[in-house]
Amino acid sequence: MYNDGMNPFRDSLACVTGGSSGIGLAIARRLAVHGARIVLIARTPERLSAARADIVSLVPDASVNTVPLDVTDQAAVRQAAADIAAQWGDPRFLFNCAGDALPGRFDRYSGQDLRRMIAVNLEGTWNMTQAFVDALRHTGGHVVNVSSLAGLVGTTGYTAYAASKFAVVGFSEALRNELAADGVRVSVLCPGDTDTPQLAAEQEHKPPETAALSARARVLSPDQVANACLRGVRRGRFLILAGGEAQLIVWLKRFAPGILFRSMDRVVLRARQGTRSAP
Ligand SMILES: NC(=O)c1ccc[n+]([C@@H]2O[C@H](COP(=O)([O-])OP(=O)(O)OC[C@H]3O[C@@H](n4cnc5c(N)ncnc54)[C@H](OP(=O)(O)O)[C@@H]3O)[C@@H](O)[C@H]2O)c1
Repeated sequence: MYNDGMNPFRDSLACVTGGSSGIGLAIARRLAVHGARIVLIARTPERLSAARADIVSLVPDASVNTVPLDVTDQAAVRQAAADIAAQWGDPRFLFNCAGDALPGRFDRYSGQDLRRMIAVNLEGTWNMTQAFVDALRHTGGHVVNVSSLAGLVGTTGYTAYAASKFAVVGFSEALRNELAADGVRVSVLCPGDTDTPQLAAEQEHKPPETAALSARARVLSPDQVANACLRGVRRGRFLILAGGEAQLIVWLKRFAPGILFRSMDRVVLRARQGTRSAP
């Protein structure tokens, strides 16, 4: 829980990776509404400019800067962190939202697919956090790593993605313990399916049984996830979930995993049987 009133974001510098799209952009929009100064980070300059314009159309006096950067490039990340500190000061918040997801059956994944997801989801988060950790110590800051519900419950078609996102949860938990004594907070956001360009791209690659499982869950809006995220940050939560369905799934995994696993297995089996019997 933050002590400085209800709004720890006002006038704070917040860096948001993946800030040009989806969940990262929605978080950046909410941060702007709460008066934060924002640095949007992603690879594609045009998407960054469009995201900046989007935020300024919502909050005309918002302070929004953009930094084109590939978070998997450790040397470039270190240089960018130094440049950001020199130009705009030390950030108080770091939201690591940049991510990549490619669903598919385990035996069809290439080593390259696995390495790409580990590189963006885990190493990108690691690189950014390491580059900014001293700055966050100075500001008594807060790191928010975006994992996924797939980082808490593994499901068919997401072996590589789940491996990378479980790793983000483990990294965040260890980091929370390590940085607590320095006054730096760490949270991990684990949203379920959210209506973003990434989810739209995933739909095209989902095996039928993955699609069948996904169809049982409600799709969240990026704004719902962003609101849950900033609420969780204000309350100083480590694990931040979005929506009641996620709470139920996580509760079941913890206290009744057999029920959860059997129900997931039934959906997968039925979808496989449906595929085999299709003409
Ligand atoms: N959508 C969902 O259903 C869902 C559910 C749970 C968790 N998540 C997680 O939430 C996060 C955001 O996902 P999203 O759905 O909002 O995706 P999105 O709309 O596709 O946005 C991804 C963002 O990450 C940036 N990005 C990708 N690779 C990057 C790299 N190597 N370096 C820097 N920036 C990079 C993209 O910009 P450029 O391509 O221009 O770099 C873009 O700004 C991800 O970590 C994702 O795994 C998503």
